[in-house]
Amino acid sequence: MVKDVKILNDTNKSTNIKAPIVDALKTAYNNPTYQFHIPGHTRGKAIFKDFKKLIGEKALNLDTTDEFDNLGTLHPATGPIKEAQELAAIAFGARKTYFLLNGSTAGNLAIAMALTKKGQKIIVNRNCHRSILTGLMISGAEPIWVCPNKIEDWSIWGNIEARQIEELLEKDKEISMVWITNPTYEGVVSDIKSISTICKKYNVPLIVDEAHGCLWHFNKQLPESALNLGADAVVHSLHKTGGSMSQTSMLHISKDSCLNEKSVEKALKLLHTTSPSLLLLASLDAARANLESAQGHKQIEKAVANAKYLRKRLDTIPNLHQLKSDFGYKTDITKVFIKIDGLSGKRLESILEIDFGIEVESASDIGVLILCNLGNKRSDFKYLADALEKIASENHKDIYYLEKRKHMPMLEPKIMMSLRDAYYANKETVSKKEAIGRISAEVVAECPPGISILLPGELITEEHIPYLNDYDNLEVVKQ
Ligand SMILES: Cc1ncc(COP(=O)(O)O)c(C=O)c1O
Repeated sequence: MVKDVKILNDTNKSTNIKAPIVDALKTAYNNPTYQFHIPGHTRGKAIFKDFKKLIGEKALNLDTTDEFDNLGTLHPATGPIKEAQELAAIAFGARKTYFLLNGSTAGNLAIAMALTKKGQKIIVNRNCHRSILTGLMISGAEPIWVCPNKIEDWSIWGNIEARQIEELLEKDKEISMVWITNPTYEGVVSDIKSISTICKKYNVPLIVDEAHGCLWHFNKQLPESALNLGADAVVHSLHKTGGSMSQTSMLHISKDSCLNEKSVEKALKLLHTTSPSLLLLASLDAARANLESAQGHKQIEKAVANAKYLRKRLDTIPNLHQLKSDFGYKTDITKVFIKIDGLSGKRLESILEIDFGIEVESASDIGVLILCNLGNKRSDFKYLADALEKIASENHKDIYYLEKRKHMPMLEPKIMMSLRDAYYANKETVSKKEAIGRISAEVVAECPPGISILLPGELITEEHIPYLNDYDNLEVVKQ
């Protein structure tokens, strides 16, 4: 059930819920014009045949950009695109919502460009996504790192405590913004309510990268969205779990936000393509309409029920462990992070893929991450649980597990230079061994989830070496 969103009846047309971009695209499709504009493949007429066969003539026919056929424009938002953004703001409980192409990455870059400037101090969690780092390199703002709790058994960063934020704000009165990620990639949830109370006490805006939490607002069994907990701006990757097409996201400005959204709007205009794909924008409109509909509510309920089913099955498998809410932090039930004794996550991932045709969201040295998505059926989870039961009962030998090789970074940074200065400094490439004692000049991050091992300006130490199995050389600041 929607938290503070009115439920709309699912009767007429297919949903009785407005989807202005979808409707405008439908009208354009049904009323073709003589087209003398981009895209030059002209409704798929001039395109590689095999590609056309693969994706279908209709998809190519619908591939157009803004400005034409009364489809509106993205920057500034006009017509159906403006209306769709307004409907999204209502659905998510925001004052203003912006559609993002190039994912939440575009949202984070825009926030950095619009709301931070050179030398400005900002609290950022150390395990933030690299798009936030890129944004800070562009703006020149200085991150004051907050290192979340470590969940050692799982080799992951956990929750951020309000106390940590308060200590940093108390210590340095020049800090002017707090920008944190919630939940983590593995679904660990921080107490945003308390963090937002602290931010208000110190009169600094709170930005929450909620890329992995776009369903939360629509189901009571999921954690509360930061938009309802006092954050000033929130980024959502709708394409990750919300049902829109890849690379589409939303940036929301909350109802009581202290931010001036005009500056965010300007930055988005600078960062976005000037030829936005209407198909992608329509998919955002459609995803919002679906999440609001009775059908969407049922899909989320089903995803939660499937997650419960999977977790219950996993509890019965000896040697298999799953990350659950613990003292101090909660988890999003739909993100299931598991490990099996004797197997590294990477090995488990490949057994699942090769022997069972199962592809999981990601694997670390420790475990694999399974997403219980809106589109999955109960039988998918049954098949997965059966496969895991079988794997856990077999005696696999895994050199990665035995050698305890690591991929996930868990180190506290030693900062020698500013992020931006190191990034733009003269650089040289040296071997991993020679790099010890030098200052990193690049972002070294495993993807997914794109969390950094080393950032520009940080001292490279012996401790980093186990995390750098995939690197022979590193870029360092020239001496
Ligand atoms: C926490 C977080 N923020 C932002 C992003 C960037 O999102 P997108 O892929 O939508 O650009 C990611 C991507 O994985 C992420 O994990």
